[in-house]
Amino acid sequence: MNEGFETLAIHAGQEADPHTGAVVPPIYAVSTYKQDGVGGLRAGYEYSRSANPTRTALEECLAAVEGGARGLAFASGLAAEDTLLRTVCAPGDHVLIPDDAYGGTFRLFAKVLERWGVSYEPVSIGDVDAVRAAVRPETKVIWVETPTNPLLGIADIAALASIAHEAGALLAVDNTFASPYLQQPIELGADVVVHSTTKYVGGHSDVVGGGLVAASAELGEQLAYHQNAMGAVAGPFDAWLTLRGLKTLAVRMERHCDNAERVVELLASHPKVTQVLYPGLPEHPGHEVAAKQMRRFGGMVSFRVAGGEQAAVEVCDRTKLFTLGESLGGVESLIEHPGRMTHASAAGSPLEVPADLVRLSVGIETADDLLADLSEALG
Ligand SMILES: Cc1ncc(COP(=O)(O)O)c(C=O)c1O
Repeated sequence: MNEGFETLAIHAGQEADPHTGAVVPPIYAVSTYKQDGVGGLRAGYEYSRSANPTRTALEECLAAVEGGARGLAFASGLAAEDTLLRTVCAPGDHVLIPDDAYGGTFRLFAKVLERWGVSYEPVSIGDVDAVRAAVRPETKVIWVETPTNPLLGIADIAALASIAHEAGALLAVDNTFASPYLQQPIELGADVVVHSTTKYVGGHSDVVGGGLVAASAELGEQLAYHQNAMGAVAGPFDAWLTLRGLKTLAVRMERHCDNAERVVELLASHPKVTQVLYPGLPEHPGHEVAAKQMRRFGGMVSFRVAGGEQAAVEVCDRTKLFTLGESLGGVESLIEHPGRMTHASAAGSPLEVPADLVRLSVGIETADDLLADLSEALG
């Protein structure tokens, strides 16, 4: 039977507990497992860095909702990224990255992996020809965020998968902004999907976590080997919280999208707003591609404020319901100034973001209340 997304999110990897019948996988707060004789593992578990039943439940669910062969859960999104890159890359390899990637991802490339011998090149991933032209013989990975953080740029996943595969490279898609409910990169040809599960997958701003989903069992096996060898795993309570959040992803995403559309409508006609960045807008350069590869356009909205940096900072300081804070994807609405906050690490680089930019993570509160708060803050 081909089960639907919501069914998989609630049931995949989550059989009732064989000992008690508990319908929710218990939090296995345990480091080691009794062996029936040397090497006689009862259920395949020997040590919780290698595997833990609560984490296994989350990993199987992540694989199911992304339509991949193997899911793996990590201590953070960046831990997932680091494990992926140091599994598939070796010193001397080259990676293409978006020219407006998340600042922490950029920092991982610029400050950690480059020292380790992996070079990177920022490219406009919305421009298929630019990506094709930037590929080199030593390119190992085309790294894509779509939509991007914070400029909401859109990459054509299917087209970039073809370019990567022709070049013998892998296509990695950071699906954090869209979530697996809105976008299924593996179906479109991606080799591996990356998540900061801290965001929409967890959905309640109560846990930091990361995920990888490999399209093939072979890549999944290599990643699982490195997950254990490098050790940046999700703990059982974090895995449990993430799995609980994942169950309601579909209904939350629908409301995030509804509310974001209302917010975009308000901002688009506001005299203090010079530009609204949202892939659902017909004038957005990636709109057609987004409409093709996404179910809806998501809950993230960025906009530029007339009056420059100071005016943008003042808007962030004035909202009451939109909480000033980093991160995104939780049920509560957040506002931030990327230039001084999430993307400060990209200052002075090709990934520097406009100073008049404000980013919203539109939550699932009553839409009218969100609009009133924004109107008041914009003045
Ligand atoms: C698109 C994207 N990818 C990756 C990450 C890193 O995830 P984490 O903060 O869970 O390490 C973030 C964090 O904001 C993000 O926005």
